Amino acid sequence: MEMEKLTRTFDVVVIGGGINGSSIAYQLSKRGRKVAIIEKKQLACEASSAAAGMLAAQAEIEQDGPLFQFALKSQAMFPELANELYEMTGIDIEFDQKGIIKIAETDAIAEEVKKQVTFQQNWDPAIKWLDSHECLEMEPSLSSNIVGGMYLPNDGHVMPATLSKAFAKAAIHFGTEILENTEVLSFIYERERVIGVKTTSGDIHCHQVVLATGAWSAQLMKDTGIDMPVYPVKGECFSVKSDTPILKRTIFSDKRCYFVPKRNGEIFIGATQVENTFDKKVTLGGIASLVERAIQLVPQIKDAKWERAWAGVRPQTGDGLPYIGEHPFKKGLFIAAGHYRNGILLSPVTGQLIADLLEGHPDDTLLSAFRIDRNKQKVH
Ligand code: FAD
Ligand code: GLY
Repeated sequence: MEMEKLTRTFDVVVIGGGINGSSIAYQLSKRGRKVAIIEKKQLACEASSAAAGMLAAQAEIEQDGPLFQFALKSQAMFPELANELYEMTGIDIEFDQKGIIKIAETDAIAEEVKKQVTFQQNWDPAIKWLDSHECLEMEPSLSSNIVGGMYLPNDGHVMPATLSKAFAKAAIHFGTEILENTEVLSFIYERERVIGVKTTSGDIHCHQVVLATGAWSAQLMKDTGIDMPVYPVKGECFSVKSDTPILKRTIFSDKRCYFVPKRNGEIFIGATQVENTFDKKVTLGGIASLVERAIQLVPQIKDAKWERAWAGVRPQTGDGLPYIGEHPFKKGLFIAAGHYRNGILLSPVTGQLIADLLEGHPDDTLLSAFRIDRNKQKVH
């Protein structure tokens, strides 16, 4: 899109066209704000299209706390959101709620998972422990070596890139402008207030800026005078297809191996964890280790047809919590980054929380744990 044809002053500039930037733009423009998303490459081209799309609040997060409560809140938004986005955009985000089985392969792991069942039942009494026989009854392709598993009937998944694009299309419907292939280089200030951004396509003025740049957030924040420890954790995945369905629901072994059966018959299998690299190359070693684990857990996978492999970069933070809030001393600058392994799950509530914050009625009970200066980061 040519810059000359665009309005160059907005109420809000959102930097980053991943799932969080698009969700934020959707919420803000729905509330009448004039919004621009500025994306250095293309919408949803980074982590938001590499994800498996699990909405796995209770499989991924094992203890109560602000992140867990935030995740439960976001997960509960999906049924209505899926309908809302479909009605507005005609895009089906392929929301599936057939549940997840978090499997245990040894007696020791089974004891841990059983403790999880007791804990997770506080939030969902339908969660239960299944023995090996019950697991195999539900998912006959699982290895008979499985000791058992926690059945989470209300966890599910979506197609992540599709959800991201649906948010963007709905935002455009409410007037959001999208500037792709445009990198934000720095902020423009008037005293200590942000009044715009300098980009590779020129200056853009606005009243408020939201930084939603995923794993790339640390450098722009450093330029504002604060060290915000967001760093990349690469994840590689592959997918297979078979003529007859192998799995009905998501199988979650641990944070390094899960299976997510999609509506088109593809099963997404992920994912490796490689810290401190932005290099998205898919390595033979990474995929080989995943393939080995996958065949151990679901032996029938070996007969499935290879589809594709890919990698993306998760935005991790020093303490594992995202940064969501206003900059401590640059007025008008807001941050929503560091969603690590759960950014797809957390995208609806992130959009809502940031929109509430910009409108001046923040949910402090959630936001206080995610504030930018919580770790007393170094100020330059
Ligand atoms: P991103 O999607 O990374 O978007 C940030 C955007 O900002 C990028 O498009 C980038 O180009 C742009 N940008 C950066 N700097 C600039 C700049 N200076 N100017 C303009 N634009 C800029 N989450 C789940 O909930 N469920 C899952 O099952 C799941 N599985 C995953 C599996 C893998 C293999 C990976 C890698 C991640 C997974 N995640 C999952 C995590 C999830 O993908 C991320 O947390 C989420 O996508 C982060 O979204 P984001 O919008 O914050 O960042
Ligand atoms: N949440 C799955 C992953 O990050 O690999």
